[in-house]
Amino acid sequence: MINGFKKYKFQKIEFLNKIRTLLLIKLKKLTKNKKITFSNYHKYIDDKKHQNIQWELAKYFRDKKLHIICLEGIREFLYMNFGQSILIQKKPFLRIARPFKEEDNIGLHKDTIYGQNPYEMSIHVPLMSLGNKSCLKFAKNSHLLNDKKIQFYKSKSLFKKGSKQHKLGKPYDPKRIIKIKYNEKPIPLKYGEFVFFSPAVIHGQELNRDKNLTRFSFDVRVSSKFFPVDFNIKKYNGSYVEFSKSPIDILASKYFAKQ
Ligand SMILES: [Fe+2]
Repeated sequence: MINGFKKYKFQKIEFLNKIRTLLLIKLKKLTKNKKITFSNYHKYIDDKKHQNIQWELAKYFRDKKLHIICLEGIREFLYMNFGQSILIQKKPFLRIARPFKEEDNIGLHKDTIYGQNPYEMSIHVPLMSLGNKSCLKFAKNSHLLNDKKIQFYKSKSLFKKGSKQHKLGKPYDPKRIIKIKYNEKPIPLKYGEFVFFSPAVIHGQELNRDKNLTRFSFDVRVSSKFFPVDFNIKKYNGSYVEFSKSPIDILASKYFAKQ
């Protein structure tokens, strides 16, 4: 983690396979199309239909808590990094980036600039293998830069605060970081791999340049109950649920409940 991010493999891939299958079945049902997959999504879905389908899929993802099922596949990894009292984001973001659709991407950004605490780590999980053209980029050691000195370029706000797109994880006040200056590099991923990264790292993508592939991925925040974050004041996408509890935490809570 010396660079602020690192690629890892699922310890138990069956949990990722499970949520991938559930989501694909839902996609086929929603579109009434048996031939559709994540990768060929753009061939069947036009702009008009896309927004509604993404909304319904993201809702399904959250309602069925697919991220919680999926993270079961890296439970030991999470214990190693956070201890055993783990909190996980209540409403994670399901992302769909079609080829050459600028509006599907957030661009390069640093989540600490949007208010994420560096103790809230992020996990990026693609639902397919991603090559150089379709994967996200990450800038090594960019978590060591002063957020106040980061250079942005002017980009107009495409979405309103509280809009569906905002709730799907697109910022209403985008702070897109200028390209190349911070030396971001693509991190291709095989299916079953994920990127674990600090929200202070510059990451993202301007455009999915793979004309044959729509990228489906989700990202979820994870933290420890005992990290110095005021979890009570975090709103909307910063709300957490308990993923696991350490034996000592359980013991002590039971004691306090009797006092
Ligand atoms: Fe981000």
